[in-house]
Amino acid sequence: MWFYLAVLLGFYFFRRWYRERQIVENLTEKYVFITGCDSGFGNQLARQLDTRGLRVLAACLTQKGAEDLKRLTSDRLKTIILDITITENVAAAAKWVKQCVGNKGLWGLVNNAGIGDPSGPNEWLTKDDFAKVINVNLFGLIDVTLHMLPLVRAARGRVVNVTSIFGRLPYIGGGYSPSKYGVEAFSDSLRRELHSFGVQLSIIEPGAFSTPLLKSIEEKFRETWSRVPSDIKELYGEQYLEKLCKICQRINKDASQNLSLVTDSIEHALTSCYPRTRYAAGWDAKLFYIPLSYMPTSLTDYMLTCFMPEPAQAV
Ligand SMILES: NC(=O)c1ccc[n+]([C@@H]2O[C@H](COP(=O)([O-])OP(=O)(O)OC[C@H]3O[C@@H](n4cnc5c(N)ncnc54)[C@H](OP(=O)(O)O)[C@@H]3O)[C@@H](O)[C@H]2O)c1
Ligand SMILES: *[C@@H]1O[C@H](CO)[C@@H](O)[C@H](O)[C@H]1NC(C)=O
Ligand SMILES: *[C@@H]1O[C@H](CO)[C@@H](O)[C@H](O)[C@H]1NC(C)=O
Ligand SMILES: *[C@@H]1O[C@H](CO)[C@@H](O)[C@H](O)[C@H]1NC(C)=O
Repeated sequence: MWFYLAVLLGFYFFRRWYRERQIVENLTEKYVFITGCDSGFGNQLARQLDTRGLRVLAACLTQKGAEDLKRLTSDRLKTIILDITITENVAAAAKWVKQCVGNKGLWGLVNNAGIGDPSGPNEWLTKDDFAKVINVNLFGLIDVTLHMLPLVRAARGRVVNVTSIFGRLPYIGGGYSPSKYGVEAFSDSLRRELHSFGVQLSIIEPGAFSTPLLKSIEEKFRETWSRVPSDIKELYGEQYLEKLCKICQRINKDASQNLSLVTDSIEHALTSCYPRTRYAAGWDAKLFYIPLSYMPTSLTDYMLTCFMPEPAQAV
């Protein structure tokens, strides 16, 4: 019995491996629009796809980001300045993309732009703190997707959303996890709708990677702490903050330096004939966070609180 099971499993993985190696044709004529190309995953992805010969339309938040990226890439790559929270800018960007791609349509839309700050224990934060993150990570992403969809449909292309393991398992408070859960939920419903139009969707769920987003998180925790009302400060105590910062340092030290694990997943989602629905990127995501997200809640709670500090006035 075990023998047949092993053969079946082997056959399954071989078929998957073989199917996933098939690459779509004429990549050099295909356009891909990526948000958040100033740094991190977006920046590396833009350079990687440019080298691969695709026509990259890179949206950066800052002028400097755009100039730096242009310097490192071929003249095929074009840049635009885009803050995804401003609808007029998103509409203008969609117009610009339409001009660039002509009647070919947009082959790939990569929703990568995102922020993590402010994060921290929920009680440290205000509604505005939540709104700031959700505005970028969820509403900005929805806005970009809705504006670009007609162009993607015309190319029967692909949409790729970068969410996070925190979209499966919230570990810290603040708007980050709710925003990423929102992206997961929207993705799942839109995928079913767009199937009828030949548009394919993939979600990338990275673990911890050493990008500016993660590196600045300790400093941002301290900033948030300085705004916390004094009664709440007393409740948690200074040593809570220090322990939290220690955890951040640990996570940063252990975070993967190899951003290729993420950008290769995105490249696969864009170039394979058979893209996956979900990609978990990084060993921590594959072996710890995603499996843990399938466990009973009581077990997940126990595991995650083991790593969290105790507030000073805990009962
Ligand atoms: N690093 C990780 O461990 C990790 C793990 C899971 C998921 N992620 C996700 O991966 C994605 C990329 O993050 P990253 O780690 O590569 O961080 P990053 O280096 O900070 O990249 C985020 C990019 O988005 C841009 N951006 C911020 N606000 C924007 C706005 N309103 N409009 C347009 N662009 C904006 C940033 O521009 P500036 O640089 O100019 O601010 C930056 O280029 C995010 O969605 C993040 O949630 C990261
Ligand atoms: C690739 O391009 C060639 C020449 O432009 C065209 O004949 C062919 O149909 C294209 N293939 C696909 C899958 O679009
Ligand atoms: C990406 O996110 C947007 C907005 O949440 C959603 O409409 C779309 O379905 C998502 N697509 C994928 C592939 O996740
Ligand atoms: C980074 O990951 C890619 C796989 O996506 C692998 O091919 C490469 O060797 C890795 N690089 C390093 C330095 O580990």
